[in-house]
Amino acid sequence: LPVDWLKPLDGRVRLIVGPADPPGFADHLLQALPEAEGLLTLLTDRVDAAILDRAPHVRVISNVAVGFDNIDIAECSARKIPVGNTPGAMVEATADIAMGLLIASARRFAEASSDAREGHWKTWSPIGWLGADISGAVIGIIGMGKIGKAMARRAHGFGMKIIYADTSSQPEIESSLGAIRYPLDDLLRVSDYISLHIPLMNSTRGLINESTLRTMKPSAIVINTSRGPIVNTTDLCRALREGWIAAAGLDVTDPEPLPPDHDLYDLPNCFILPHIGSATHGARRRMAEMACENVLAGLEGKRLPYCVNPQVYET
Ligand code: GLV
Repeated sequence: LPVDWLKPLDGRVRLIVGPADPPGFADHLLQALPEAEGLLTLLTDRVDAAILDRAPHVRVISNVAVGFDNIDIAECSARKIPVGNTPGAMVEATADIAMGLLIASARRFAEASSDAREGHWKTWSPIGWLGADISGAVIGIIGMGKIGKAMARRAHGFGMKIIYADTSSQPEIESSLGAIRYPLDDLLRVSDYISLHIPLMNSTRGLINESTLRTMKPSAIVINTSRGPIVNTTDLCRALREGWIAAAGLDVTDPEPLPPDHDLYDLPNCFILPHIGSATHGARRRMAEMACENVLAGLEGKRLPYCVNPQVYET
C-alpha cells in the first residue's frame, strides 16, 4: 500500500511493513507476529490458525478487500478477534470491470485487437469478427448483493433482460429493473450471459463445473469478477475448447496469478484480466481508508465500523 494511503495511522501505531512481493508473510513479519496487536492484510495474505498461534496479542484483523476468504473467520471468531473488510468501496469499479468483460467477450475484443495488430485487418468484412448481441439478451446474475446490483443496473442500461439467483429475493431490483428471481438451474439453462457476484465459501467453491457448464446454452458467456475458485478451471477449459459454452471473461482465476503458460491463455474465447476489479484510484484509496478505520477501531477497543464477524461482540 502506498504510504500516503496509510496516513490515518501516522503517530497512532507502530507499523511493520512487509514487502510488496512476494505476497504473504515475509520472514521479518513472521518474526514480528508475537508482538503484533493488529494485522492489516491483503487478499493474498492467508491468515489461519498457524499465523494466529504466532500472534497471540492480535485483537483486530483488517483486510484491505471486500472478500475475506483468505482469512479463517471461524478461527478468528473462536479467538474473539474481529475481522474487518471494505464493503462498498469497489462496488462500481468492479461492476464496470464485469460489464467491460461482458462486452469484450461478446464482441471478441482480444481476437479482433490482436488480428488488427498482426496484419489480419485486410478490409471491412461483413462477416469479420462477428460477436454476440448484448441488447435484448438475458443476463443471469448469480448473487444479487451490492456488486450484483451494480451489474444489474449496467445491464439494464444496455437493454438486457435481468434474471438472478440469490438466497433471498431483492424486491427493489425487481421493481426498478424488472429483474426476476430464478432457481439456479433454470437461470443456467436460459441465460445468454452469466455473471458471478458471490463470495467464495465452501458452498460456492466449484459452483461452475462440468455439470453446471453443460447446463448452459452453447452460446452462453460466463463472466467472473468474484473469486477464481468459484469456477473449476479444468472444467472451464474443456467447456471453452469443446464448445459447451461460447466464451468467458475472467478477472479472477484459479490459480492466481494464472501462470503465463496456462492453457486458458491459448483459448481465443477466453478474455483474462489480472484481478483488477477494484483497481481504480478512487476505489483503492477508499479501501485503504476503510481498512485504516477498522484497524484503528480494533486497536482502540471499539467496534469495527465494517466487521464481517460481529458475533465476536455478542458475549
Ligand atoms: C477484491 O477482490 C476484493 O475482495 O476487494
